[in-house]
Amino acid sequence: MSTVAKKISLTGIKPTGDIHIGNYFGAIKPALELAKTYDARYFVADYHALNSVKDPKELRASIHSVAACWLAAGLDPEEVIFYRQSSIPEVFELSTMLMAFCSKGLMNRAHAYKAAVQENSEKGDDIDAGVNMGLFTYPILMAADIILFDSDVVPVGRDQAQHIEMAQDMAQSVNAVYKEQVLKIPQAGIQEEVAVIPGLDGRKMSKSYNNVIPIFVPEKELRKTIMRIVTNSQGVEEAKDPQTSQIYQLYRYFASAEEQEALASRYRAGGMGWGEAKEELFRVVNRELSPVREKYDAIMANPKELDAILERGAEKARPIAAATLRRFRKAAGIDR
Ligand code: TRP
Repeated sequence: MSTVAKKISLTGIKPTGDIHIGNYFGAIKPALELAKTYDARYFVADYHALNSVKDPKELRASIHSVAACWLAAGLDPEEVIFYRQSSIPEVFELSTMLMAFCSKGLMNRAHAYKAAVQENSEKGDDIDAGVNMGLFTYPILMAADIILFDSDVVPVGRDQAQHIEMAQDMAQSVNAVYKEQVLKIPQAGIQEEVAVIPGLDGRKMSKSYNNVIPIFVPEKELRKTIMRIVTNSQGVEEAKDPQTSQIYQLYRYFASAEEQEALASRYRAGGMGWGEAKEELFRVVNRELSPVREKYDAIMANPKELDAILERGAEKARPIAAATLRRFRKAAGIDR
């Protein structure tokens, strides 16, 4: 066995209830690949969600749903560490300690807060209207998530890059004050959008465009959704261009090279209507998603076991968290 320790990656997952195939290929699958090269850690950021979700039923359901989704997609809780943020009290201790090393000015410059301020001023409201302290200090809690687990790399989209820079800033301040490497400085693994999955209307698949194909719906509904894909008015007999058809673009994610070639030929030859192309797309999408859906349904049917999986992950996570906090407390003089 190699004695070289693997680098640590950490992925934070915001609980949202509506996983679609855009998230699946754009975020979940690439993040699961990390487990091959890193000592990978994944957690459900449930306290972050509390800033915006105040309905307990909704929050509970989203937490279970997102955790089940990652497990169904192939996350192996024996191989990696998978836990809920709220199960690790050290996150909040570290968050409080980091506050002493984070200027208020830094938080004023955070994109999400600045956007809220700008929206308020445009409306003529008080600049802080509707801004809770959870939103304002979001980057500190996120820095605690990251730093607590000695993360080397945090794979995130561009929109989260500033948060990683802020985490670096806080960890560096701590190390500078105590003149030792108390906390590890994390790096951002910026994921350029590997895959922009087209939605039903051809724009990027996104909940805000209302053009998504959800993953965990019954087969019938999946088929219905695929039948809603927008097409041009070309008739059955006309030759069609695969490159400009979102049916074909979606097909590429689910079909083998031979299947892609075969469908492209049928497009170019003419004689195949859009309805038939959609049927072919449904067939391959359903082929890939039905085992994932079955696994998801089985996990969701047993929430106790799901909680137990997450709790076993938290048990693996807590000693790592405690060690980081011990180091920091000792350096700061809050040890005993
Ligand atoms: N802010 C991240 C998002 O919106 C979620 C998140 C919370 C996170 N804590 C994290 C991501 C720590 C990476 C590391 O998607």
